[in-house]
Amino acid sequence: MSDSPWWRDAVIYQVYIRSFADADGDGIGDIAGIRERLPYLAALGVDALWINPWYASPQADAGYDVADYRAIEPAYGTVADAEKLIVDAHEHGLRLVPDIVPNHTSDQHVWFRAALADEPGARARYVFRPGSGPDGAEPPNNWRSHFGGPAWTRVADGSWYLHLFDPGQPDLNWANPEVAAEFEAVLRFWFDRGVDGFRIDVAHGLVKDPALPDLTDPRDQLGRSYPAGGHPYVDREGVEEIYEAWRRVADSYPGERMFVAEAWTPAPERLARYVAPGRLHTAFNFDYLVAPWDPAALREAIDVTTGHLRAAGAPATWVLSNHDVVRHPSRYGRPTTEREEVPTSTVARDGATDLVLGTRRARAALLLEAALPGGMYVYQGEELGLPEVEDIPDDARQDPTWQRSGFTVRGRDGARVPLPWSATAGTSAGFSPPGATAPWLPQPAGWTDYAADRQEGDPDSVLELYRAALRRRRAHPALGDGDMAWVSAPGDAVLHLRREPGFACVVNLGLEPVDLPAHDEVLLASVPLEGGRLGPDAAVWLAVS
Ligand code: NOJ
Repeated sequence: MSDSPWWRDAVIYQVYIRSFADADGDGIGDIAGIRERLPYLAALGVDALWINPWYASPQADAGYDVADYRAIEPAYGTVADAEKLIVDAHEHGLRLVPDIVPNHTSDQHVWFRAALADEPGARARYVFRPGSGPDGAEPPNNWRSHFGGPAWTRVADGSWYLHLFDPGQPDLNWANPEVAAEFEAVLRFWFDRGVDGFRIDVAHGLVKDPALPDLTDPRDQLGRSYPAGGHPYVDREGVEEIYEAWRRVADSYPGERMFVAEAWTPAPERLARYVAPGRLHTAFNFDYLVAPWDPAALREAIDVTTGHLRAAGAPATWVLSNHDVVRHPSRYGRPTTEREEVPTSTVARDGATDLVLGTRRARAALLLEAALPGGMYVYQGEELGLPEVEDIPDDARQDPTWQRSGFTVRGRDGARVPLPWSATAGTSAGFSPPGATAPWLPQPAGWTDYAADRQEGDPDSVLELYRAALRRRRAHPALGDGDMAWVSAPGDAVLHLRREPGFACVVNLGLEPVDLPAHDEVLLASVPLEGGRLGPDAAVWLAVS
């Protein structure tokens, strides 16, 4: 691997804290659970951990509704526990990147309580407006919440507040300098405690058109039907100034602190604005995530996004799954090559998933992803080959989408089921200690088949494939940051790329086995080769001269 700054080619493991490991037996993951599993994470070969929001929160949206940015959710631990985790992670060679949620607070945040009490200046930190229609009884405009229903809720005195997500997540007014000052102070609070960076939630959404005009198409929440920067709340001009100020804060600390933006932009070239010099370090490459398992689509996503990000001087990032989308072994096992337009609220189509096929493709996808230049993300459990859980009982669902959509959209719980650590020890497949309360989301039958301790040492397991790939990626001088070149032609069913010195990755997305190109050695294969040939939906890493 190269010796460029760590964030240019890091493997960052996403810890969805609620579902990672429960040390105290209440059925909810916690900071102590993460600390216990640091040796596992170090052995997996990742470089850093992104931790989903760990702040004090009523959990209206699984912690993305923050009541206090300087306190830890009591079910997860304390600020002292977080400090211990930062120290322990660093001792294991792992950096720590928590989430920050600047678009909205919880409705239980002290600022919003003050706004409800109409204290002087308090409402100006949020987006309050009179209603429309007779007696102002209708919302101020036609904006919709991402979780369903209007994006406005009326308060006791008759005015309305904006929430692009749950009513428990009022949007902040970033035109108010108090808001910017507060978030810079929060960044410093955690940088002072040693965190290595932040994942920025809804990074594209902080700046709103002050006129709050109706949407021409209320379903267009990604801005695709608007000219660049013309949507009233997606990807507007002005976000870059916020991030330039944040970059100055990060750069005032030693040790290469970094930001990664969750920015859903209408077109990939708009992403480059977030990572231009003096702004954020990296941004998630969702174009790659939403690409179907199809050679032309994958190649295009790789070329287009890499091109735009590299032109801005930023490394690409590669991500296949996270807590908002259907896990990729299930996506790749569906009989479709459609692009998922709004992957944040995708729902698996019951009964239509071929998991044997999807898992085979997911193994190949890992070798492709880990061979590409830039950084990559691993969503917890993907190293165990976990599929989407498609049969969570409806009365156990926790995602606000289910209720807000009038019980029509099942939402994202299927990607958030607590991890299976052990086939034999503990409670809930080893997620909790013996005798613990049931986990906050039920695990399906057969979950222990995926348990980490069942896979450990089995050379055919997904876990051992991840370990081998990440170990090789770290050790090989051609991998990580740098350049790549296609050997295969556009339109080929085989993707064949080269990196120097002496490395090739070949992925067969066709229907028939193919011969391997000339090589010195097979370094790693996603499945055994078939008589020296690469079967369909399989990938191989080669040493080449
Ligand atoms: C994106 C997060 O990943 C998602 O889980 C959350 O619901 C929204 N932002 C709102 O914070």
